[in-house]
Amino acid sequence: MKNKFKIAVLPGDGIGEEVITEATKIITSIDTIGERVELHEFQCGGEYYSKHGIEWSSEAEEFSKSEADAVLLGAIGANDNDGNPIRLPDGNLAGYNVVLGMRFELDLFANVRPVKLYEGVPTPLANKTHKDIDMVIVRENTEGLYVPIRGRLVRGGNEEIAIDTRIITRKGSERVIRFAFDESKLRHGAPSDGEHRVTCVDKSNLLAGCQLFRRVYNEVSTEYPNVKTDYAYVDAWTQWVVKKPEYYDVVVAPNEFGDIITDLGGAIQGGLGMAPAGNIGSNHGVFEPVHGSAPKHSGKNIANPTAAILAASMMVEWLGKKHNDLKLIKIVKSIEQGIAEVLLEGKIRTYDLCTGEWSNITPSSTSQMGEEYLKRIKQKIKES
Ligand code: IPM
Ligand code: MN
Repeated sequence: MKNKFKIAVLPGDGIGEEVITEATKIITSIDTIGERVELHEFQCGGEYYSKHGIEWSSEAEEFSKSEADAVLLGAIGANDNDGNPIRLPDGNLAGYNVVLGMRFELDLFANVRPVKLYEGVPTPLANKTHKDIDMVIVRENTEGLYVPIRGRLVRGGNEEIAIDTRIITRKGSERVIRFAFDESKLRHGAPSDGEHRVTCVDKSNLLAGCQLFRRVYNEVSTEYPNVKTDYAYVDAWTQWVVKKPEYYDVVVAPNEFGDIITDLGGAIQGGLGMAPAGNIGSNHGVFEPVHGSAPKHSGKNIANPTAAILAASMMVEWLGKKHNDLKLIKIVKSIEQGIAEVLLEGKIRTYDLCTGEWSNITPSSTSQMGEEYLKRIKQKIKES
């Protein structure tokens, strides 16, 4: 068993800093985890780029990619003094190479995004409750429309053209689809019927890459006789999930569709402040909230730290499973119970959760919510 885990902590830009502070407080204050982790914090992102002309130091990059057992990332993206996003000379957002660079170079092929509505959290879906919304979206994370094969031919005026290339491979599809089926086996099935089900969300009525993705899905599915197959074209899925979220257990999708549908997922689970993600490969894991750096909210101590804390908890669970460390796996249950209890009680919550039947509550700050979580989590550990 490994005694110490080295964690690269990359708060990044905007609210990234504030929410990661709460997440690391929790990790380091719980005895079982705190004594087992060694946090190495590095600055990176758009603000770092505007000061130093690079997105992160070579030390930060080297440590995150080669030495760390896991990476905890905040958010990337900053604005200049005129309010415009800080960009690299190639047009990409400054910080892009931190996020996408790790996904590609560490081969983090599955972007795992749980969409779970906690009891006590408002959802915009009428007549749906926490009993209806509990799925995991597994987004392909190393290819699709995100491959850096793109460019622009500037011919001036209306002759200008731009191209993005979408690549779908058998290997890339197979491993993420298998990941999705394995994930379903570990879960309790879809809320509506308890069936283990993996829904393949694609656009195979049109796109060749999606036809390959679906063919591979069909092949892999034969290895999982106890998991139900299910298919949806991505456009249709966006309406089905709004009408019947309880039907979904695990959803698997190519990269760019996964990006889009996980924001929809974030909305129905109470907003992006509630949506964590784990970028997972065979050897590496990078954990982050799905939300961005939200420059207009940054520095005000108002952002919801839940997504970042849940991402940190996914990281602990992943480390526990990878290293067969039952203590860490057990702690994660207590973390989730503590979070669930605070949300259910409803008194301490950030502004984004003060809507609907909770609109009379005075919003708490980021740090108040983080402290309350920590208190409850410690209680849950004692009781366990
Ligand atoms: C996400 C983000 C990123 C993506 C951006 C920041 C490149 O939207 O993690 O979902 O598109 O993957
Ligand atoms: Mn996104």
